[in-house]
Amino acid sequence: MGGALRWNPGPRDEWMARMDRIDRLDPMETGLRHRVKRAVRQMSDQHRNIRAIHGSIRGALERGGVQDARAALDRLQSAMDAHFTLEDEVFFPALHGLRPEFADSLEALSREHAGFSEVLRKLIADLEASGVESFQSGFDVYAEALAAHERREEQIVATLVESIVASG
Ligand SMILES: [Fe+2]
Ligand SMILES: [Fe+2]
Repeated sequence: MGGALRWNPGPRDEWMARMDRIDRLDPMETGLRHRVKRAVRQMSDQHRNIRAIHGSIRGALERGGVQDARAALDRLQSAMDAHFTLEDEVFFPALHGLRPEFADSLEALSREHAGFSEVLRKLIADLEASGVESFQSGFDVYAEALAAHERREEQIVATLVESIVASG
């Protein structure tokens, strides 16, 4: 299995093309479906942005730029907060509204968010306290776990979108 940096973002363009067909579907659910469509795009863009920031952190540390790594970690923390808020407060509730049978999967993903925020907070403290080497091994574990989480999320979204389009 490839590392987080080589992770293929997945068939986003395919879902977006399918989501475009929503415009021609059941007008009763159009508002909710449009919210989902907008949130799918935002979620996918944020996943890509988070991966880019991971790359900046690794790059900074390879160059010995600890200050740059700290600055990128601050950006990562803000990006993660915004991302989890979008998923927990907008995206997952909208998906749940369309497909209540996905409740368990969505709740499991949501529970993991708090864990990732806590791990990231500890990693940042670790960079201050224990230095780059200790930080890097912890960061790799965190990044791999987050990549697996995002992959599951994108698979669930793809399945949901497929079922929404098929039912239209
Ligand atoms: Fe998530
Ligand atoms: Fe996510």
